[in-house]
Amino acid sequence: MITVEETENLTHVGPGTAAGEYLRQFWLPFLGSDAVEAGGQPFPVRLLGEDLVAFRREDGKVGLVDVACAHRRAPMLYARNEGCGLRCVYHGWQYDIDGQCTDMPAEPANSRFKQHVRIKAYPCRERNGVVWTYLGKGDPPELPEVEWNLVPAQNVHVSFRVQETDWLSSYEGEIDSAHAPILHGRLDTTSKRSRTTMARSGRPIFDVMQQDFGVSIGARRTVPDRDELYWRVNQFVMPFYTLVPPKSEEWAELTGHAWVPIDDSHTLAVGFTYLPDRPLKDRMVDVFTHGHKGRETGHPSVDAYDPDIPRNVPYWKYTTKFRHATNYRFDHSLQQTTYFSGLPGLWVQDVACQNGAQAVPRGHEHLTSSDAGIVIVRQVMRDCVAAYAESGELPTAATDPTVYRVRAVASLLKTDEAWVEALGEFMFKDVGEPLGYQIP
Ligand code: FES
Ligand SMILES: [Fe+2]
Repeated sequence: MITVEETENLTHVGPGTAAGEYLRQFWLPFLGSDAVEAGGQPFPVRLLGEDLVAFRREDGKVGLVDVACAHRRAPMLYARNEGCGLRCVYHGWQYDIDGQCTDMPAEPANSRFKQHVRIKAYPCRERNGVVWTYLGKGDPPELPEVEWNLVPAQNVHVSFRVQETDWLSSYEGEIDSAHAPILHGRLDTTSKRSRTTMARSGRPIFDVMQQDFGVSIGARRTVPDRDELYWRVNQFVMPFYTLVPPKSEEWAELTGHAWVPIDDSHTLAVGFTYLPDRPLKDRMVDVFTHGHKGRETGHPSVDAYDPDIPRNVPYWKYTTKFRHATNYRFDHSLQQTTYFSGLPGLWVQDVACQNGAQAVPRGHEHLTSSDAGIVIVRQVMRDCVAAYAESGELPTAATDPTVYRVRAVASLLKTDEAWVEALGEFMFKDVGEPLGYQIP
């Protein structure tokens, strides 16, 4: 078992912490390409407890540098984005995208001091609308081959939002599939989707399997009047990805998140929904973008973001109106009529509960059989972090980008079929291949 203290330690992600140093050895998807314009204003970012600014140079390249100038620590958030990089507005020192100082306009013309000055800078790569960075030691590996970031743009919807939760509470919310029919249930039975989900047994039995990429969390439910079991296999992929299987033939999208730690108590939820082999329906993209009948769906709608967040707050652009300070817009009357939870929408329901979990010390938890996936992933994470701290050893996922070619699966199996073997061929597919099975 993992102790409460060991679990808490995993939520400490700043420089010099064991979990933070481990997480630095992986690429982080940390920004949407459209958050920074060529030659435009720098954007405040915080990753693994470090304050940084992202910007797009006039030639289109994205940079990520220290939040403070190397001279007398003026904020680089106000820097001028010109030429080869950012120029501090205090005394005009300019830095290239790699952090090298290239100009000191207030120094004597023959001074060579600038050659010895750098600010912290991290390499960035951009792929299909997502900017990635690497805060680790040495040369970065290849970008992970995550399918959601490799399929054509019309096949996928990606969103970014800040959660006031540590990264562990965040990803654990999506490992735990037992909550779905309850927290996301509705009282009005007009929803076909809702009826289908609630008809299935609310008492899943869990079976968890450690894999090269992370952990498979299988949940099986009985199906009324059938000699079959309904299996939903969620995947946890190192170091912070969760993959959720499709819901039905009508809602056949694969979904999931990268839970990128901002600091010990904030997480950047990078949400993705995609079809590997065809474009998303316009109706679905519209629902994600604008919500459905005034409620939030699987992604934050454009109206979910709070326009009043000051522009110097890290990730202001991704901060929503649904947070602790607004009580997540919980409405007790809706609990009587519409939503089981009284919380206005899918992701809001998740984050409100994940945030609550963080407010109470973990020592007060009572984990049970439906938390088997959470317990195993905590143990795996503890062991990986410890192995890296002791010997620099990293799991395969940190060095082999192909390990990320994995999918979550939902399927009916005969009661005596072994799920790992039976579903394996659907878990490991090349980018863009059809699912290859009928969704129950
Ligand atoms: S503080 Fe930036 S140039 Fe002086
Ligand atoms: Fe959920």
